[in-house]
Amino acid sequence: MVFIRYMTARLVLPALFCVLLTSGPAYSEGPLDEGMGLLNNKCADCHDLKGPAAATLEDFLSRKGPDLFYAGVKYRKEWLSQWLVSPKRIRPAGFRYSENIKRVSGEDDMVDLGALKPHMALSREMAKLAAATLMSFKANEELVKKNALTDAPADAFMGELNFDKFSGCLACHEIEPEYGGVSGPEVYTISERLQPDFIYSYLKSPQSFDPKTFMPDKELSENFLQILTKFMLTLEEDEEDDEGEGE
Ligand code: HEC
Ligand code: HEC
Repeated sequence: MVFIRYMTARLVLPALFCVLLTSGPAYSEGPLDEGMGLLNNKCADCHDLKGPAAATLEDFLSRKGPDLFYAGVKYRKEWLSQWLVSPKRIRPAGFRYSENIKRVSGEDDMVDLGALKPHMALSREMAKLAAATLMSFKANEELVKKNALTDAPADAFMGELNFDKFSGCLACHEIEPEYGGVSGPEVYTISERLQPDFIYSYLKSPQSFDPKTFMPDKELSENFLQILTKFMLTLEEDEEDDEGEGE
């Protein structure tokens, strides 16, 4: 009995006290604290988890991975938790692509695949925790227009023409595996990866998310923003319907 009373005094009461202290709204995110620990331990070395985005070219070029401090307004949660279990390359030439492209005069740029390292993978449970925590990072929310897309259906023909020719997006982005440029992320997986409102808002002003990004601000009209965003959202990984003629 004495022992139990001792335990009550030494452990249960203080524990109860802690629960009371930490159960206010600001502290109710226990799992997120744990998630934050995981991210700080395993991810912060390569990813900016806090912001703001790099303001100088030097800082920008020294980054080892994409910024994640606004992950919650950018990614789809389902995709995050799946991708972290079995990550697949998103940027064909890697994040620091200029280090991995071999230039041979008179030929197309070649990607030195040997230089690319696979991304670390997490267990299913860890990935869920990391994804939930990343989704709580809501920086830049004010830059994202809510329900940005109109009901007008995607126009595949205008979309592709616009992407490939008028707006010159194909020079840097692949719209199917091995068709398109390699310096930007592939866009044929975008519907699984990114939130539509984010895609629209990022296209409208890439530099407001990342002042030094090489993604150009094409000052796209509202009409082009709608066409391009909807076009990218219709792309799928295993689309094999054209021969990539024209470029
Ligand atoms: C050694 C550096 C490194 C570490 C450590 C690392 N990452 Fe990454 N991460 C990268 C690079 C580089 C990319 C770009 C991959 C690509 O484009 O294929 C990336 C991509 C990502 C992406 C996709 C983002 C996007 O927009 O393309 C997510 C999400 C991500 N990492 C989360 C994590 C998490 C969570 C951790 C910790 C558990 C982590 N990373 C640890 C380097 C790293
Ligand atoms: C000069 C090369 C270049 C051109 C041209 C270009 N982009 Fe990009 N784009 C990039 C780079 C680089 C990024 C950011 C990569 C990163 O975060 O690592 C990017 C990012 C994006 C993103 C966010 C993707 C993601 O997964 O994070 C979208 C969407 C996008 N571009 C669409 C377009 C569209 C549509 C056009 C044409 C209007 C276009 N881009 C033209 C290089 C380019």
